Amino acid sequence: MSALFQRNLHANLPNVVKGKGNYLIDETGKKYLDACGGAAVSCLGHDCAPVISAIKQQVDKLCFAHTGYFSNEPAEKLASWLVDHAPAGTGAGSIMLLGSGSEAMEAALKLARQYHLENGEQDRSKVIARKPSYHGNTLGALATGYHEGRRAPYAPLLRETHYIDVPYRYRMMREDETEAEFAARLAQQLEDKIEELGAQNVMAFVLEPVVGATLGCVTSPKAYFKTIREICDKHGVLLVSLMKLCVAWGEQALPML
Ligand SMILES: Cc1ncc(COP(=O)(O)O)c(C=O)c1O
Repeated sequence: MSALFQRNLHANLPNVVKGKGNYLIDETGKKYLDACGGAAVSCLGHDCAPVISAIKQQVDKLCFAHTGYFSNEPAEKLASWLVDHAPAGTGAGSIMLLGSGSEAMEAALKLARQYHLENGEQDRSKVIARKPSYHGNTLGALATGYHEGRRAPYAPLLRETHYIDVPYRYRMMREDETEAEFAARLAQQLEDKIEELGAQNVMAFVLEPVVGATLGCVTSPKAYFKTIREICDKHGVLLVSLMKLCVAWGEQALPML
């Protein structure tokens, strides 16, 4: 019996001891193809030489310095790289580095609230998100995403969030509709929801640019993003769009190491 609190209390999980490319290898030598890169976080493979070497070099120099009091070279370098490579027009100005997607979601929610407070709009606290979606495991992130089974046991602990549909072409686009009409119809749900809640009460609209854990790589119809950006701007609502960096930029970032 493992002393580790495993995710599955009834399974005896194999003990992996090594990673090689796309494979994980357990203590008996059995190989497993890690086809989803462990929820998309190992998409550079399990033995990516530049990453391993950069980690080793840094550990030799410095492991930790409290971010309340110090900055450090690798964090500064990564933040500059990300700002320099942000897509044109996104206005990325500074980067907050955190330990997980859930933590990033919590920070985004708090930053959004802080932004409105600083602007004197203290009534803005409501969040609109999409159904289905996954934004993480911690209470704020779990309350924001919508996956019936994952949130059900904790429902009484979760802050109220308001939902619109994900524009899921395969299931929801009508035969008599063009892609542009479908995008406009689904984006209109956002404007309707903002108006229903009262724009002065809405803090943020949160979405995954590509739906991951709850639908599987569902992209948006053309023009959807442009329209929802315009709707958010019109109503002073912050648009929070979180995607795992490793998926968006993994390989391109390697030359930085
Ligand atoms: C869009 C999105 N946000 C947040 C998370 C949570 O990330 P983590 O598991 O690193 O806490 C995930 C995880 O799959 C995700 O896909």
